[in-house]
Amino acid sequence: MNVSVQLRVNGMSYELELDPRVSLLDCLREHLGLTGTKKGCDQGACGACTVLADSQRINSCLAPAVQCEDMEITTIEAMAAHEVGGRVQDAFLAHDGFQCGYCTSGQICSTVAMLAEHRAGMPSAVSPEASPAALTDAEIRERMAGNLCRCGAYNGIVAAIREVAR
Ligand code: FES
Repeated sequence: MNVSVQLRVNGMSYELELDPRVSLLDCLREHLGLTGTKKGCDQGACGACTVLADSQRINSCLAPAVQCEDMEITTIEAMAAHEVGGRVQDAFLAHDGFQCGYCTSGQICSTVAMLAEHRAGMPSAVSPEASPAALTDAEIRERMAGNLCRCGAYNGIVAAIREVAR
């Protein structure tokens, strides 16, 4: 049985009737036409479906859409106008931080949240005492480990993130 769901996505409000089992990922792609968010594994392992929920990165394939009410969802479609997201997109272009591009929207959304986590002083496994001033390549790789790139464009991805993090 469908239920009524109110979502806020990229600053817009939507009223939807959804099966409570529908993931946020499928809701974005199939109900809202926001196909920039990609489906890779559909089980929380690849990061292709990463979006921001109240500025925190989530795998949208794992989140039931009905649980995303009262959250501000931000997808790749809003990143060009995002304070940090636009710079991240430019840096990915400048450093060839992609090959086929399938993982790129998730990589960019994840980068935006990761940089905020770092600035907030959230430690990582590589740098348990991380200071916001020092984001090393090893730390970038560790903090981005949830976003896989099957083409192996990691050097470009790290270079792009390094540039924005400076
Ligand atoms: Fe969600 Fe792979 S599609 S983590």
